[in-house]
Amino acid sequence: MADDVLRLENLVTEIASDQATVRVVDGVSVSVRRGRTLGLVGESGSGKSLTCLSILGLLPAGGRVASGRILFRGEDLAGMSQRNLSRYRGTGIGTILQDPMTSLNPLLTIGDQIGEVFRYHHGISSAAERRRRAVAVMEQVRIPAAAERLNAYPHQFSGGMRQRIAIAMSIAADPGLIIADEPTTALDVTIRLQILQLLRDIQRERGTAILLVTHDLHAVARFCDDVAVMYAGRIVEQGPVAEVFARPAHPYTVGLVAAVPRIAVIPERLATIPGQPPRPGESVQGCAFAPRCARASAGCLPASPAPRSIAPGRSVACIAPHLLAEAAE
Ligand SMILES: Nc1ncnc2c1ncn2[C@@H]1O[C@H](COP(=O)(O)OP(=O)(O)OP(=O)(O)O)[C@@H](O)[C@H]1O
Ligand SMILES: [Mg+2]
Repeated sequence: MADDVLRLENLVTEIASDQATVRVVDGVSVSVRRGRTLGLVGESGSGKSLTCLSILGLLPAGGRVASGRILFRGEDLAGMSQRNLSRYRGTGIGTILQDPMTSLNPLLTIGDQIGEVFRYHHGISSAAERRRRAVAVMEQVRIPAAAERLNAYPHQFSGGMRQRIAIAMSIAADPGLIIADEPTTALDVTIRLQILQLLRDIQRERGTAILLVTHDLHAVARFCDDVAVMYAGRIVEQGPVAEVFARPAHPYTVGLVAAVPRIAVIPERLATIPGQPPRPGESVQGCAFAPRCARASAGCLPASPAPRSIAPGRSVACIAPHLLAEAAE
């Protein structure tokens, strides 16, 4: 679609080690539109972070995008040189990670760090102007007494304030897309909501597209427009949050949603997902969720089901999804 800021088309990412090559992202196709937030959810190890790192060109050693396209504003980042990619990182695409200290330098003052973003990305050579802009962006992320705190170091701030500083550094470059991988997991509940609300406010002001990775389905329900559910490297279901949570179609989504009180009304017998996902590199025949699925049949074994459309903007990769009418009963 025209206002897709990010579009992944059949993204396949592999990590090679001495023993084997493991396909950690297996044909992911999702889009994030301007001014919209896509929530990416799924069990630990399903490939959410490696999807993000593929987009950023920051895969761990041995990792590579094996096929597919990573379209950012229509330009394919897959296979782009590190030198060209680094132009996009920061400027076009901002990142916010679970531990803000990974993006902050403990030895530099906050003012110097945020100022550096304005120097590097906007070419602002005047130190006074950089400080002025740093204060403005700190005020935007609601850091109290911003001007007085320019000379403070990261360790002098609380975890929630540090995450605000990381967000300030991200938005200082005015990115079109923010990738936030569990940005609030390390924070306590009230601070979490404030940070997510802050991201939402920034998005409203600037039209930023956001890819939000989280385990918190309440946060998805409240702050995301669309949701993509990942299982064993694949997107098993996606669509508008309200519709997916009210009437989940993939048996895995049904289990995920049922495990969270008050998001949807799901019969109690479906409320847990037994078993474990496949181990990385374990060979799986057919649908990877079938061994854990109450609806599985012989039809699930021949091939992993491809996503298919079940309603406008909704797709599910299952040969026997909960039909929308059935799930609503
Ligand atoms: N450096 C690495 N080398 C080999 N395999 C890796 C590496 N990093 C991750 N993996 C494997 O890739 C799979 C996907 O990992 P990823 O970190 O993307 O999961 P995730 O969905 O982000 O999980 P979590 O919710 O725990 O953050 C996992 O099975 C993991 O074991
Ligand atoms: Mg992760």
